Amino acid sequence: MKYLKKAYQNRIPYHSTMIEQGIILNANESPYPLPKLILDDFIEQIKKMNLNRYPDTDATILVDEIAKTYHLKSENIACGVGSDSLIDCIMKAVLEEGDIVLTVAPTFSMYSQYAELYGGKIYEVPLETDFSYNVDKIIKSIKQVNPKIVVLCNPNNPTGSVLRLEEVKRILKETSALVLLDEAYFEFYQEKESGISLLQDENHEELIDHLIVLRTFSKAYGFAGGRIGYLLASKENVQMVNIVKAPYFVNSMTLALATSILKHKELYQENIKNICLEREEMYQKLLSLKIKVYPSKSNFLWMKLDENIINELEKNQIYIRKMMYQNEKYYRISIGSHEENEQLWEVISSCVKLN
Ligand SMILES: Cc1ncc(COP(=O)(O)O)c(C=O)c1O
Repeated sequence: MKYLKKAYQNRIPYHSTMIEQGIILNANESPYPLPKLILDDFIEQIKKMNLNRYPDTDATILVDEIAKTYHLKSENIACGVGSDSLIDCIMKAVLEEGDIVLTVAPTFSMYSQYAELYGGKIYEVPLETDFSYNVDKIIKSIKQVNPKIVVLCNPNNPTGSVLRLEEVKRILKETSALVLLDEAYFEFYQEKESGISLLQDENHEELIDHLIVLRTFSKAYGFAGGRIGYLLASKENVQMVNIVKAPYFVNSMTLALATSILKHKELYQENIKNICLEREEMYQKLLSLKIKVYPSKSNFLWMKLDENIINELEKNQIYIRKMMYQNEKYYRISIGSHEENEQLWEVISSCVKLN
């Protein structure tokens, strides 16, 4: 490309095919629509909004609500256009040419995409053969390669594997690198083990200093279309992100809806519980068919599937995510509504029984 800078010549634009029909289990979205109360509240709010004016660039109302939710100060929070945009901001703010970003493999692909955009070099520590985390191995690698940033996804996308809070603490104690703890799927795990609890405890000052926790409204809160995520960190690290963030980042409508979601977050507990129950049921059923599927604490399952199953799913317009890892094909299936999961099961089990 004529005008594209040399370093980007081999890059391709991010693309995701928009699926209008069928059962969409490929993007870890929520299968549930927004609760009626939240939508009604939003319709009332939009009537009063001055959309001829820019949004509040500091997202004050939402930031205050997040601060209240997690017993932190507003100075500890920044919002972005999806948590994706905050990963971008962090890489942009921190990385100098050649700096190392350490993460695990397989994990969320945008970490390396953004790191490389800003001259970072990715160092991947492979997960164990059962896709669990090995913290000793991570710490050993940190000592060897001295990364500027360590990115840990908890629960990990695409495997669903988790780190215990003690393990996160150990990693923080062993490195001075900035640790980005991506908790995009945390609501499907358990709040007690969140890195946010470290930020809440002033006795952990030396850990807080280099920890950023990332959350999103796109998964458990069913608001992927609104594109909003947030980070929780020390005042200094929030300032750092604000330096590189575009002005008026999140639009007024999304800010209002996200605030309403958070105020009524108890409305989501049932949906979250159902997704976890459905996940466990699907996991057990797939195991019973001798499918190689891995335990998950998220809203998806990671597995190996035969080609005939893939073909049959495609025929039935059931969309799942294929991923290559170490030259082998794996599949990640999001947990859908009960009806969607039943249809998925119908197709998979009939294929296996036919064999
Ligand atoms: C681990 C992880 N982090 C961050 C994101 C980005 O989410 P969003 O930009 O919608 O907040 C995703 C999206 O799939 C994800 O899987």
